[in-house]
Amino acid sequence: MPDLNCTYRPSAVKCNGFDPRAFRWAQTMRLAVEEINQSEKLLPNHTLGYKIFDSCAYPLTGQRAALAVLNGPDEAHSPTCIGASPLLAVIGESGSAQSIVVSRILQPFRIPMISYFSSCACLSDRRKYPTFFRVIPNDDYQVKAIAQLLVRFNWTWVGLVRGDHEYGRFAVQGLLRELQGTRVCVAYQEMIPLLYNRQRALEIMRVMRSSGAKVVVVFSAEGEMTPFLRDYMKQNITGIQWVASEAWITASVFTGSEYYPYLGGTIGFGIRQGHIPRLSDYLQTVEPHRYPSNPLVQELWGALYGCAPSPSFGSVLPPCSGEESLLEQHSAYMNTSSPRVAYNVYKSVYAIAYSLHNLLLCQPGSGPFHNNSCAQSNNIHPWQLQHYLQDVAFSIGGEEVNFDLKGDSILYYDVINWQRGSEGKIEFVNVGLFDGTKAAGKELVIQEERIIWAGHQSEVLVSVCSASCLPGSRKAVRRGEPVCCFDCVLCDSGKISNQTDSIDCTACPQDFWSNTEGTACIPKKVEFLTYDSLGIALTVIAVVGACLTLAVLAVFLYHRNTAIVRVNNSELSFFILLSLVLCFLCALVFIGEPTSWSCMLRHTAFSITFSLCISCILGKTLVVLAVFTATMPGNNIMKWLGPKQQRAIIFSCTLVQVVICATWLIDAPPIPYRNTQYERSKIILECSVGSSLAFWCVLGYIGLLACLCFVLAFLARKLPGNFNEAKFITFSMLIFCAVWLAFIPAYISSPGNYADAVETFAILASSFGLLFCLFAPKCYIILLKPEKNTKQHLMGKEKK
Ligand code: TRP
Repeated sequence: MPDLNCTYRPSAVKCNGFDPRAFRWAQTMRLAVEEINQSEKLLPNHTLGYKIFDSCAYPLTGQRAALAVLNGPDEAHSPTCIGASPLLAVIGESGSAQSIVVSRILQPFRIPMISYFSSCACLSDRRKYPTFFRVIPNDDYQVKAIAQLLVRFNWTWVGLVRGDHEYGRFAVQGLLRELQGTRVCVAYQEMIPLLYNRQRALEIMRVMRSSGAKVVVVFSAEGEMTPFLRDYMKQNITGIQWVASEAWITASVFTGSEYYPYLGGTIGFGIRQGHIPRLSDYLQTVEPHRYPSNPLVQELWGALYGCAPSPSFGSVLPPCSGEESLLEQHSAYMNTSSPRVAYNVYKSVYAIAYSLHNLLLCQPGSGPFHNNSCAQSNNIHPWQLQHYLQDVAFSIGGEEVNFDLKGDSILYYDVINWQRGSEGKIEFVNVGLFDGTKAAGKELVIQEERIIWAGHQSEVLVSVCSASCLPGSRKAVRRGEPVCCFDCVLCDSGKISNQTDSIDCTACPQDFWSNTEGTACIPKKVEFLTYDSLGIALTVIAVVGACLTLAVLAVFLYHRNTAIVRVNNSELSFFILLSLVLCFLCALVFIGEPTSWSCMLRHTAFSITFSLCISCILGKTLVVLAVFTATMPGNNIMKWLGPKQQRAIIFSCTLVQVVICATWLIDAPPIPYRNTQYERSKIILECSVGSSLAFWCVLGYIGLLACLCFVLAFLARKLPGNFNEAKFITFSMLIFCAVWLAFIPAYISSPGNYADAVETFAILASSFGLLFCLFAPKCYIILLKPEKNTKQHLMGKEKK
């Protein structure tokens, strides 16, 4: 940039390098103008003139060019002051930043301009840029397309890099807007400085490398991308999937084979291509000896061949041989197979020609201007041309060209993918289409199978901050980080998530619980004391107990005439044995699925059989006491304790329990109850006692009987006789009470089905206690010591 301190005439801007691509566009404009001038149909009898300025892709130079063309060669000869402006329309600028400046300068003169490459959405503001037209889609569509592309390939962690100009600024702004509400997050935003700065570029690359975002969207042009990519390649970074904006997706400077490992697979939206039949031949006519005084042609040769065609221009390059000829291989300039931007230039020239043509066709008296007047053909004002430009409609190469009220046109993009072509060079392959006129969501059509991704891969690359959460877990956002970065947390038990990337785990409905993976709700397991190992063990013990008792009963029946059986009140012994069998059997009711019947049966059967059993023992104790006290003179107690009375005692004692049980069953019977509180993952099927008062009454009554029995037996234990049963009854009651006292805390603290097991165990233990204490000694004598089974021995009299 020359120094603009206004103390001396500023020197000309020195451009940094030569852009053969832009030179091609300029030649395309010349071609179009020549075509129109030769045409008999379009603008007959008129010749278009033009002037081409080099803005060097800088806004300031663009501004100078615009002012230069407005001012004319010099003031004295300028026709500006006499009539209409000699300048009717401007084609350009290429970059949006330059277009903005030029448009503002042209605005007071109402000179229309048509840009072929300025896509910034900002230029669609008709109030700010009333004379601006363009033949390239507004970037609003491009950012929409890029957002859809990112979403489509599930690239949720992307970096944004842009150049330092309006185009980059507005495009990034637009893309961020489009990405709002999608699952895509932006990892970083970086800007390549306007005046390239290696330090800054290296910093950007460091960010690219450390962020983990594999996909990088770049809104920039080849001008600033070239040095950036050169440094990028030096850093040897690979594995980046570039998403290129339309400004560089078709830039042939990057097609060299050395770029492929770094840029191969790049995808982006390109301007649609057209066909200009004579372009290739026309470009070849540009040669130094044909245009010896044109500095741009000299520079083209310098850029393509590295030589100076005529040394007079003060170039430092070696002189050319003169053999150099333009061939297809000089793609930077000669790439004419699919003109995209050049085609836009071509269209722009034709748009102006057609508008002028329409303007000249105007019939006096039916014109569009004041009083239906027409424009004067020899004094056309630019604003009059603008009027016709706004309404122009023509077709070129089968494509319709017109402008909407904002000066925009066409809404199509090609999806372009950089693939390896012949000689390892990069080729731009068309793999799809974005049609902005289609309904939302249907705009983007991509042939995915034709795409080659970065690193010469056929699989879509993954660019995410956090891998997605599998079913059974949920996302947990990390504090202070974008939503795309999250941890996966397993669902709590009882909650599930059945989709990948769930935000929340849902609780299972009642009676359902999560499976171990946390992906589905399954019905809760219903547990009760069943025939598993515990249940079977208890059943076996109960059956064994019952059998043993029956065996004892059989022994007693068989030896019913021996002394020991007869002395000890055989009838009551049989009663006790029978009730003990029932006691053992009632343990079985506790095993198996609780139903309303078994629930009612459980406690009642148990309590009644036990009351019966203890009552019998009580009866026996009373008899023992009575027998021994009756031996004392004057005591006639045995009269009151005959067999009838004994039965009455047993019956009445049992009856009390029966009454309690009946009241219980009538008032609040035990019912099966699905306990979900105790363990949340299971349903424990148990019998609720219905009324705990009744339950404890029943137990308490048995306890009362047992205590009574114990006290009486205790009193009788010292009474004489070799076989004093009272001793054994005392023992049995001790064991009985111990078992049931231990039962209470165990029962209360046992969960669901184990409470049943505890109760069953207590029943069995106490029954065995009774059986052994009461009958084992007798069986011992009956079976093993029959010699002692005499009345004398039993009475302790035989020694005497
Ligand atoms: N579409 C871009 C724009 O509107 C194209 C472009 C041309 C460009 N020349 C540029 C972008 C220079 C950045 C710099 O600006």
